[in-house]
Amino acid sequence: MNSNIRPDTMERITNFDLANKFIDEQVEEIRRQVGDKKVLLALSGGVDSSVVAALLIKAIGKQLVCVHVNHGLMRKGESEAVIDMFGKTLEANLIYIDATDRYLDLLAGVSDPESKRKIIGKEFIEIFAEEARKLEGIEFLAQGTIYPDILESVKQAEGKKAVKSHHNVGGLPEDLKFELCEPIKLLFKDEVRVVGEALGLPHAMVYRQPFPGPGLGVRCLGAITRDRLHALREADAILRDEFDKCGLAEKVWQYFVIIPDIKSVGVKDEGRYEGWPAIIRAVNTKDAMTASIEEIPYAVLHKICARITSEVEGINRVLYDITPKPTGTIEWE
Ligand code: XMP
Repeated sequence: MNSNIRPDTMERITNFDLANKFIDEQVEEIRRQVGDKKVLLALSGGVDSSVVAALLIKAIGKQLVCVHVNHGLMRKGESEAVIDMFGKTLEANLIYIDATDRYLDLLAGVSDPESKRKIIGKEFIEIFAEEARKLEGIEFLAQGTIYPDILESVKQAEGKKAVKSHHNVGGLPEDLKFELCEPIKLLFKDEVRVVGEALGLPHAMVYRQPFPGPGLGVRCLGAITRDRLHALREADAILRDEFDKCGLAEKVWQYFVIIPDIKSVGVKDEGRYEGWPAIIRAVNTKDAMTASIEEIPYAVLHKICARITSEVEGINRVLYDITPKPTGTIEWE
């Protein structure tokens, strides 16, 4: 699949029969392209990189080397899920790098959102390149590029202005020259999910809500501190748990917690308790260009508020953001 243009004749993959046909074709194509050489993949645990990993494992097994960089800004349990699924269940060649300290040290005191994004993106390239240099005989780089990414880069080449710099992975350094392997680059997201399930990936992984590359880094507003980041991760896990329990997780496009760098006075155990507010955001959208608010039932909001304020150290209030996009963007930074 060398062309970057989806042919008009390409059938939309809507069921397992079509997905299995696509998988068989790609397995053959990957084996033809790669031969007995090795392929490197940055496996974030997002839908696209996970599906590419599963496809390549099926095609070339241990010739694929997956690198999972934990930047310390993942949601609760995410890196563990990558290790369980790919390292243990699928027995992939997986290199796990815990770069939490490295990232949090670099980000300390940095409050400008775009500077945070730049640091997170640049550091990822550096860590990934360091690993790539240690490995022998890698000739290919696999990427989870999908068709909307290609359409988006065409738009950017035409000079359309972006509100935020969403692109997380820039080019690798000059000395690392790999041939690209992009087996899902002509697929739309819904097709990627069908292919993922046909490959046996868990439903929760394949239908995971979108998560920005800079992760919790753009939801721990301003300069990130370890204690506030920890509170954010715990509060976000409670929100996700409650959304799972009441069926909203299946319905809402993106839902998450934000914690700003402000404290207010509260009361706990009959004493003054200064804490951060946890802000809840739940939005629906088709293309992330505009978004509407999910009207979370009050009973669910009460439960979330009660759990977050009692279970998470440092939080004394829960707020609910009812702003659509525009005027708000989906993320706060
Ligand atoms: P905004 O905040 O621009 O977000 O309305 C639109 C969608 O993009 C995601 N987002 C990002 N994704 N890197 C990413 O990969 C980023 O830096 C980034 N910033 C925002 C956001 O989560 C939403 O789905």
